[in-house]
Amino acid sequence: MRQQGWFVLVFGLLQQAQLVQEVPVAPVAPASVAPLRKLYMGRPIAPTMSWEGGPWLMRATREKEERCSELLAALDVKPGQIVCDFGCGNGFYTFPLARLVGAKGKVYATDIQPEMLELLKGEAKKHEGAGDIVVPVLCTETDPKLADASIDLALLVDVYHELSDPAAVLAALKKSLKPDGQLAIVEFRLEDPEVPIKLEHKMTKVQLVKELDANGYVVAREFDQLPWQHVVFFKAKPKEAETPASKPGSSKGLPSPPPSPPPSDRGERR
Ligand SMILES: C[S@@+](CC[C@H](N)C(=O)[O-])C[C@H]1O[C@@H](n2cnc3c(N)ncnc32)[C@H](O)[C@@H]1O
Repeated sequence: MRQQGWFVLVFGLLQQAQLVQEVPVAPVAPASVAPLRKLYMGRPIAPTMSWEGGPWLMRATREKEERCSELLAALDVKPGQIVCDFGCGNGFYTFPLARLVGAKGKVYATDIQPEMLELLKGEAKKHEGAGDIVVPVLCTETDPKLADASIDLALLVDVYHELSDPAAVLAALKKSLKPDGQLAIVEFRLEDPEVPIKLEHKMTKVQLVKELDANGYVVAREFDQLPWQHVVFFKAKPKEAETPASKPGSSKGLPSPPPSPPPSDRGERR
């Protein structure tokens, strides 16, 4: 009887410990926000993460897990620059970017979910002066609603893999970049089975580069120091370098990516 009591106590404590450690699973946005499309160039497109997953994006452990401050440093953002936090969510990266561009710069914070932008406006109140720098933009699935040739850097953290129409977005972003502007795309590594994220929310670097190449971009530089994520900077290809295979939306003549690793259900968070 006493033994049974101990068992119940230990089991209860273990259960509690597990509950405290559990990371909320990010819910999926309804199809009215972004209807699910299945494949792009052989890659399954992930469903849009719902605004209800906002707390997961702001989790206290994110810096330790993803080393976000190292990513920010690697972006090399300069005071006065015009930056787009594309698919900004509730603004986890928007406000640090606002600090980097300073009072003379701008951060366009774009998202397709109005609720995300409402959460971002709530966050803005915690960051003095951010209201003058950050411009929330409710965009559509295919149109980021940015002025032509206006952006120095568009940052896409954990967004690209869930674009329902990557070719349309990449074409629109290309128009919005200044001549020397760049995209910085940050994606969880599909090559690494230790990264505890669902497979559909991860990408291989080969696949990412293949998709960007097909839409008229070339790799400008890479940052490989983050524990879980690829960071690849892209710039628009010069017009003459655009082969038929790299005309927007085309996937002809490009190498196939390596096969995806087998599914795993180990501690996946999203
Ligand atoms: C996983 S969240 C990442 C949010 C933020 N970048 C971060 O790292 O905290 C992905 C966000 O991308 C947005 N999104 C998805 N498709 C989009 C599109 N076509 N245009 C703009 N935002 C999009 C979603 O609404 C969601 O807020």
